[in-house]
Amino acid sequence: MAGLQDGNVNESPAPSRSGFRLPIASVISLPDGSVRYGGRVAAGSVRAGDAMRLLPSGVQTRVATVLLEGNPVEEAWAGTGIELVLADVVAAQRGDVLATADAPPEVADQFEVSLLWLGANPMTPGRQYLMKLACHEVTATITAIKHREDPATGAPLAARTLKSGDTATVKLATNIPMVFEPASVSRILGEFTLADRVTGDTVGTGSIDFALRRASNIHWQALELDKARRAQLKGQRPRCIWFTGLSGSGKSTIANLLEKRLYAEGKHTYLLDGDNVRHGLNRDLGFTEADRVENIRRVGEVARLMVDAGLIVLVSFISPFRSERRMARDLFAEGEFVEVYVDTPIEECERRDVKGLYAKARKGELKNFTGIDSPYEAPESPQVHIRAAIDAPDLCVENILRALDQP
Ligand code: ADX
Repeated sequence: MAGLQDGNVNESPAPSRSGFRLPIASVISLPDGSVRYGGRVAAGSVRAGDAMRLLPSGVQTRVATVLLEGNPVEEAWAGTGIELVLADVVAAQRGDVLATADAPPEVADQFEVSLLWLGANPMTPGRQYLMKLACHEVTATITAIKHREDPATGAPLAARTLKSGDTATVKLATNIPMVFEPASVSRILGEFTLADRVTGDTVGTGSIDFALRRASNIHWQALELDKARRAQLKGQRPRCIWFTGLSGSGKSTIANLLEKRLYAEGKHTYLLDGDNVRHGLNRDLGFTEADRVENIRRVGEVARLMVDAGLIVLVSFISPFRSERRMARDLFAEGEFVEVYVDTPIEECERRDVKGLYAKARKGELKNFTGIDSPYEAPESPQVHIRAAIDAPDLCVENILRALDQP
């Protein structure tokens, strides 16, 4: 393919109409091998011959034909829905942006943004939301609240969470690099919405002030030994077996027993237990919603590293929120994450009260206790559903082993 690299554009391009932006909404391959890149022009205008840059890849090419309702036209302007045929077939996807080659927009994955929170649930840093900006749909996390604004005076106030109606300046990170412009330059490429990943409800709107870190500065270190080779040496399929359930539901008892069974079969395992990890890595975290979100984010990342090392990792955390269990699941490849719901009625957990914590919580001596004054969101479709109050631990372990045998 000629003309794809920097400085390699064939034929001399027409002087570019600066500031052209086309967020790509569709990529259609035709039977004759040509490809049409469609979308609504966000800014500027375009003509055949214009030099283009595709972002985030940075690939350069030229416009061969501008199509309006399928017919070639000389020029198209902002606000028009068009299709472009390019001089080269470039690998583009929905969310990419075609832009004037010599004045492209920025690409980044961390931003300072102004946010209006609309969600019924408070915005919690570390939680993942679905972000829509132009044609991009990415996963975004608020990493920090810089300040909330006083509704009367606009003065900056310290805040740990945001409630509906709050406006704030926050730091936001996306899971993949995004093509954007500050909202002061382009509303289309600078304004976004956030939605709940589970319900799809809109929970916030915002505008990008500026990028905190250019995506091009970060590189994933390519390593020669990979997960498959490490796992092969151990003769096993790496997995993350994630136990969720109330305090006292029997998660740790069953996880322990399962680990012993796997060990006896010659498997290489590791058990991450909430109580233990909270003594070390997560010593700084308590039991507010925000701290539990961070607790699960960290243990999810640790489990991922261990799975990458080829281990079978058992994670035994209350992990009360669907959103963070989903976040953990998304860290793993298809079939690698096995959710085990240890479903024991709260009355039974409270009756056992091995650590005496339910009694304390009832007396009001322990705040934010799961099931008492902090919620537990039961899994809707766990791979394994265990009724630990009914079935003996051995039988529960058999059920999990059977699920692990499934392809
Ligand atoms: S999680 O909700 O953030 O996933 P995690 O599994 O790490 O919780 O820790 C739960 C353990 O911490 C419980 O088994 C219990 O021993 C202890 N604990 C102390 N305070 C609380 C609380 N307020 N709510 C739940 N568990 C608590």
